[in-house]
Amino acid sequence: MTTDPGLDSWRDLLAHQQPAWPDAAVLAEVVDELSILPPLVFAGECDVLRSRLADAADGKAFLLQGGDCAETFAGATADLIRGRIKTVLQMAVVLTYGASLPVIKVGRLAGQFAKPRSSDDETRDGVTMPAYRGDAVNAWDFDAAKRTPDPARLLKAYHTSASTLNLVRAFTQGGFADLRQVHEWNRGFIGSTVNVRYEELAGEIDRAMSFMAACGADFDSLRTVEFFSSHEALLLDYERALTRIDSRTQLPYDVSAHMLWIGERTRQLDGAHIDLLARVRNPIGVKLGPTTTPDDALALVDRLDPTREPGRLTFITRMGAGRIREVLPSLVEKVAASGAQVLWVCDPMHGNTFESASGYKTRRFDDVIDEVRGFFEVHRAAGTVPGGLHIELTGDDVTEIMGGFEKIDDAALATRYESLCDPRLNHQQSLELSFLVADMLRGR
Ligand code: TRP
Ligand code: MN
Repeated sequence: MTTDPGLDSWRDLLAHQQPAWPDAAVLAEVVDELSILPPLVFAGECDVLRSRLADAADGKAFLLQGGDCAETFAGATADLIRGRIKTVLQMAVVLTYGASLPVIKVGRLAGQFAKPRSSDDETRDGVTMPAYRGDAVNAWDFDAAKRTPDPARLLKAYHTSASTLNLVRAFTQGGFADLRQVHEWNRGFIGSTVNVRYEELAGEIDRAMSFMAACGADFDSLRTVEFFSSHEALLLDYERALTRIDSRTQLPYDVSAHMLWIGERTRQLDGAHIDLLARVRNPIGVKLGPTTTPDDALALVDRLDPTREPGRLTFITRMGAGRIREVLPSLVEKVAASGAQVLWVCDPMHGNTFESASGYKTRRFDDVIDEVRGFFEVHRAAGTVPGGLHIELTGDDVTEIMGGFEKIDDAALATRYESLCDPRLNHQQSLELSFLVADMLRGR
């Protein structure tokens, strides 16, 4: 009765962005070990997320997906994880209250350890080494031994994801995310107009909750949040080892995270990534850059969502502030005309990266905002739903993105630039963005 789900067909196809592991036998041992480790998520949770995303595609909820560009093993500490969770919770509160809309919280976290690179190697002062591909593959240190891909790191990525997710579940279910803590999440951050605005909103929430308590209402839903995990499905040996047949449905799920996305560089229709991800039941995202044609988008719908299942497919557009108003309309219109029900999400980060005069990889906060505005405008004109936001953020007061309330300029980038990869919105900028998006959502 069982049909072969073809979970190994990708091995015959071209897989971009895979590390050159030096020893196939060592990789095989690691993959065997990964294959019997427990799932990080339960398939039933992936189904819940799929139904939540279907609501977002329908305009009845909004997706907030955020976290680091690349997580690191060193960054998986309680303080740093708590900081990110706090920031996401604060943004979610601003959006939920501001737009009176349920917000689906998805972290770019507990598995975001692998990065696609534009070049296989990196040269510094005439010395060439393999490029850093994320902590799941090699180390950032510019040293021949440390830059050599090491399969043992896949195991460490699994265990670090497990402990991260464990803490996230504890925070979001164990009282930390209780709406009565709404002021607490903002403690310790610098005083600013954004924070004052947040405190005002938190005060209104307090009053509303006291009112409900006085009325005798006692909603359990105020005490916890549903929090889902996601990362880019890049390393196919890892994702395959964590793809399991669900005992309830006999169908394959990639249990390394609730949601997986396919990057702009690995979304070839005849490529290995699409092949594996097409076969799992998780909700799937695909990043779409400015060169995407409507035909590309339609072909992706056919491959990844042939039955047009609500919540199955999310298109995460990353066009750049300068391109979105020109490129997105025809994609959105043609996909809508085909009858496909995808969730449209805006990634206002990756199309707006440049190198500052002082040599930092950065983005302008104004460009980030402008791309989000363009995203809302295009959907409004097309009569489609702007359903979510995908961002790179941290819970710290870093200086990686120029502008925002603190007016970070090129000189200020050096003050606290910590990202190994792309620049992230700091705590202030994340809150500021959520107030602006709440306004846009109210007008949706
Ligand atoms: N459970 C609700 C939700 O997730 C309300 C809620 C509880 C909440 N704690 C929260 C909302 C923290 C945002 C942030 O929407
Ligand atoms: Mn990035």
